[in-house]
Amino acid sequence: MRSKFLGSAICCFLLAMTQANAAEDAAFDAEETYQSTCFACHGTGAAHSPEVGDQIEWEIRMDKGMDTLVQNTINGLNGIMPPRGLCATCSDEQLRAIVEFMVQSSL
Ligand code: HEC
Repeated sequence: MRSKFLGSAICCFLLAMTQANAAEDAAFDAEETYQSTCFACHGTGAAHSPEVGDQIEWEIRMDKGMDTLVQNTINGLNGIMPPRGLCATCSDEQLRAIVEFMVQSSL
């Protein structure tokens, strides 16, 4: 009885994994792209980048307004924040979604 239950649990787990992988290709995941692209700087504070999770840093930045933050992400800022945050394949909307994720994770 027990092993039968375990068997079906593993089956469903594998099925869920396959579906997640399929969704990954179609749908953009802001958190995942942040982790793979922006985290190198914004997760560590490298090059004096505003670290995600630093509430005061992001409160000050949010004073400029979300649109300005997104524009500065697209164009780069002060020669140290690279244009598009080095995500060459990200659209403007996707970059906005990542900035929103970063701000929400910090405030
Ligand atoms: C090479 C390091 C690096 C990477 C990679 C990087 N950033 Fe930055 N980012 C910075 C630095 C440094 C600053 C601070 C610039 C300043 O204030 O002079 C910054 C600032 C910002 C700001 C604040 C802009 C403002 O107007 O104050 C946002 C938003 C931002 N980055 C988003 C992103 C996103 C989204 C990604 C990934 C797609 C990303 N960054 C990748 C280094 C990086």
